[in-house]
Amino acid sequence: MPKVFVSRRVIGLEPYAERLTLDIWEGALPPSPRELRERTRGCDGLVSLLTDRLDADFFDSVPGLKVVSQYAVGVNNIDLAAAKARGIPVGHTPGVLTDATADMAFTLMLAAARNVVPGADYVKAGKWKTWEPALLLGQSVYGATLGIIGYGRIGKAVAERSRGFKMRVLAVSPTLSAEQAAAEDVTATSLDDLLRESDFVSIHTPLTPDTYHLIGARELALMKPTATLVNTARGEVIDPAALYEALRAGRPGFAALDVTEPEPLPPDHPLLSLPNCLVVPHLGSATMQARLAMTRSAMANLEAGLRGEPMPHCANP
Ligand code: GLV
Ligand code: GLV
Repeated sequence: MPKVFVSRRVIGLEPYAERLTLDIWEGALPPSPRELRERTRGCDGLVSLLTDRLDADFFDSVPGLKVVSQYAVGVNNIDLAAAKARGIPVGHTPGVLTDATADMAFTLMLAAARNVVPGADYVKAGKWKTWEPALLLGQSVYGATLGIIGYGRIGKAVAERSRGFKMRVLAVSPTLSAEQAAAEDVTATSLDDLLRESDFVSIHTPLTPDTYHLIGARELALMKPTATLVNTARGEVIDPAALYEALRAGRPGFAALDVTEPEPLPPDHPLLSLPNCLVVPHLGSATMQARLAMTRSAMANLEAGLRGEPMPHCANP
């Protein structure tokens, strides 16, 4: 049986243990780079997570490795070219987490707009004495303008959700054609115009050299004081020092982040001291349904790769 290192315990692996020798990392934290190398050495396959760094040195240290299957859609932690140069296909899991992640973007938008977390804290603190006419007044989501940065699978799924809220949708994306924009009632625009006009800005780009710190001081200063910035993509798309200064100055008014730089965010990070910044711990795909589907997708990629067949979803074809 092929031998496979799985770098964290994920749900739904039981059926695969009948046909693969699975060595599963049971630690509460990810393996260190050294532990990852040592456990992967001698394996045919590796199921990796976004917390593993797979660079050229890593691939050189595990010469027998034939296949990598990433348990995520994003693969910015992997040097895809280095894998390809060594004949190693890298699988990933697009599609199955689109709806869960779009739901999370909407959750953050609504929670930010309607003060859900401060409201819950207020009740728990015993401060709720009466119905207050001016308590925790938020911003309307219904009918507002939504700016989507990165109109791929997840960006499009966020736009679909916004229809029920009668939102005007602006989008910037290198893959959005004029025909698609017209057919889906989305206005393709420049990044600057999107930032200037949107009440909610939601980020759905992959992290690449082009999108690293795409949102910095200049971009944040274009946003409205009433606007909310939502990030469920990768933390590094936003410059965190610039975001801290911008939120302190109240422009944009709020940020709701599922992903951060660094990740995890240390408890004493300046962003966590701000009342207008909501941070949750990278939960975009965290539903039972999505995570089980990710296991199936990752294992289908892995097994195809081990058989020498094309993967259903290969990130470095
Ligand atoms: C999660 O962030 C993923 O890339 O799947
Ligand atoms: C609020 O609860 C209302 O009835 O207006």
